[in-house]
Amino acid sequence: MSDVEHRLDRLSPERRRLAERLAARAPSPSSSPPGAGQARPSVDLLTHDLVERFRTAERESEPSVAKKAAVRRFYDAVNGQLDASVAHEHSLFLNYGYVADGHNERAVVELPRYALNRNCMKLVLEVVGDCEVGGRTVLDVGCGRGGTISVLNRFFDPRALVGVDLSPAAIDFCRRTHTSPRMRFAVADAEALPFDDRQFDTVINVESSHSYPDVGAFYAEVARVLVSGGRFLYSDTIPTRALHDRIEQLVSMGLSLELSRDITPNVLRSCDEAAAINMQAFSAENVPEVLSDFLGAPESRTYQLMQSRRMVYGIWRFRRV
Ligand SMILES: C[S@@+](CC[C@H](N)C(=O)[O-])C[C@H]1O[C@@H](n2cnc3c(N)ncnc32)[C@H](O)[C@@H]1O
Repeated sequence: MSDVEHRLDRLSPERRRLAERLAARAPSPSSSPPGAGQARPSVDLLTHDLVERFRTAERESEPSVAKKAAVRRFYDAVNGQLDASVAHEHSLFLNYGYVADGHNERAVVELPRYALNRNCMKLVLEVVGDCEVGGRTVLDVGCGRGGTISVLNRFFDPRALVGVDLSPAAIDFCRRTHTSPRMRFAVADAEALPFDDRQFDTVINVESSHSYPDVGAFYAEVARVLVSGGRFLYSDTIPTRALHDRIEQLVSMGLSLELSRDITPNVLRSCDEAAAINMQAFSAENVPEVLSDFLGAPESRTYQLMQSRRMVYGIWRFRRV
C-alpha cells in the first residue's frame, strides 16, 4: 500500500470523501510536467508557526504589524480550506457556538427546528438578545464568513449591514455569498475602522477581539463610530483577571454597561458537541493541536482555559452615552 493510500485508509468516512473530492479536482501529478503551472486547490495548512505569533495577542515584544500579518495569514488559510471543503458555501461561521441550558437565555428569536450551523447561529441570537436591530445600520467587526450578518438579515430586518474583516479571503467569500443589496463588505482593521464618526446604530463583534494586538484601539474606534445612544454588542473570550479592567476601559470611553453574561458553560457545551464534527471540514494535513485549539476541542488549550475559569467567554452590551 502506498503512503497516500495508507493515510487515506486511516481517515474517517467523511474525511475520506472530502479527500477523494479534492483529489478528483487536482490534476494528476503524472499528467503534467513539473512547473507547468497546473492549478491544484491551494490550501495553506494550519501550523504551529502560523498560530504562534498571534496566539492571544499577548506578546508585547512583537510589533503589532507582524501580529496582524500572522492573523491575516491564519484566517486566509482557514478560509482557503473551508472554500475547498464539500460544505464550503454553507460554512458561514467561525465561532465556537452556544448551547442553551435553560438558564438566562436572552434570544428573542427561536431557531428553526432544522438549521445548519445551529450552535453558531444561536450564539449570535444570544449576543443580539432583545436589542432593537430592525431598521438600524449595523457594523459587524471581524465578520469572518458573514454568518452574523446573515442572521441579522434573516431575522431582524435592519436598514443596512456592513461587515469588515482583516482577512481578504473571508471578505471575498462574503462578497460571493451574501448578495443582498443592503449588505456591504470590506477588508479593514478593527483598530482603524475606515468610517466617519457616528455612522452606526449598532456595532457587533463576535469572537474576534482576542486577536487584536491593541484591543483598546478597537474600543476607541467603537466609541467613535457609534451614534449617541447606539449599542455595542460584544462577545469573546477574555482572561478572567483582565475582565474588570476591560469593562472599565470601555466605560471610560463613554460606553455604559447594560448587560454582562458569563456564557462559558454554554460555549463549552457547544464545543463538546461540535468540535469533532467541524474538524471534518478542514484538511487532514493540519497540525492537530492547532486545529483542535481553533475549534475548541475538549483536549485543547483554549477549552482547558475556559473550563478552569482562567478565561471567560462572555456577552456584554454597552450603550454609547
Ligand atoms: C474566530 S473568527 C470569528 C468570525 C465571525 N465573527 C464569526 O462569528 O463567525 C475571528 C475573525 O476576526 C478576524 N480578525 C482578526 N483580527 C482582526 C482585525 N484586527 N480586524 C478585523 N478583523 C480581524 C479574523 O480574520 C476572523 O475572521
